[in-house]
Amino acid sequence: MVPRPVGTDWEVFAPAKLNLYLEVLGKRKDGFHDLETLMVPVRFADQLRWSEDPRPVNSSCYSIADTCTFSVDSACLARCDSAAELCSSRNLVCQAALKLAQRAGVEPQGHFHLTKRILVQAGMGGGSSDAAAALVLANTCWKLGLGKREMAELAAELGSDVPFFIHEGPAICRGRGELVEPVGRLAPMHFVIVKPRLSLSTARVFGELGSRHSFAGLAESAGRVGGLVRSLRRGALGASCRSLFNRLEGVVTKIAPEITWLKLMLRGAGCWNGQMTGSGSAVFGLVNSAVQARRIARWLAARRLGTVLATSSGW
Ligand code: C5P
Repeated sequence: MVPRPVGTDWEVFAPAKLNLYLEVLGKRKDGFHDLETLMVPVRFADQLRWSEDPRPVNSSCYSIADTCTFSVDSACLARCDSAAELCSSRNLVCQAALKLAQRAGVEPQGHFHLTKRILVQAGMGGGSSDAAAALVLANTCWKLGLGKREMAELAAELGSDVPFFIHEGPAICRGRGELVEPVGRLAPMHFVIVKPRLSLSTARVFGELGSRHSFAGLAESAGRVGGLVRSLRRGALGASCRSLFNRLEGVVTKIAPEITWLKLMLRGAGCWNGQMTGSGSAVFGLVNSAVQARRIARWLAARRLGTVLATSSGW
């Protein structure tokens, strides 16, 4: 994430992610779960813009601090069920700005405007990516000069997936998600994504794993995700698809059986696979090319299964 000047403003793109592999290794004393997950950023992003002057506070412009305000694009609020979450001080953009200012010992400054495209409660990391974007943008605009390590520490305090977006690029994430191991270049990948109307909270999905869940072994999971990374580097999609995996899918399909049906639809439409990303509810399929992704997306969109996208890996 590199902020770029736009006139007197600055802007940064906050990409979505997909989990190609997600294994749960155990429940921790702090209530979180230890994970091993391979995440890739995709070319579908929110946009966060910063301008020097705070705006007047009203029903669509929120005060982060005395000299700092926040708004969200009204078009995306109209499309979103959880507008209250998106355009309030609960938004991770506001929390990131406050946290960074506190760490650096400065007053938050200026106006942040978020254009939201990434689907909410989809498992695509939109809120986490916005938080990372706010840290990176404010670090630049407020001329703080914090390094990547400090930023990653702040990111981990904001949410389990936020550090992944600070590091950029495909990575295996462990711990509760905050221990990021970049895996370098993978072959380009093209995806079709379907987000059904159903929305799921991450806390609920992890909660449903329950105490009787038997967790996977560390060595076994490391072997599987390592094999997946090697085949993705070679661009061997057939072999890769045999190792794509999401442990949370079993939980979610019990709450929402339509996820199983969507996976079958993706395969039936010509994707190599169908798999849920993160804690859902979006489901993705890997395909051979961007052209095929667009063709399948058009076919699925006509069936009114929810929101359908065609995108590619990378950023
Ligand atoms: O860190 P984040 O805010 O994304 O987590 C949301 C919720 O998901 C947590 O409160 C926790 O219930 C659950 N979670 C978990 N283990 C993880 C990540 C999230 O149990 N590794």
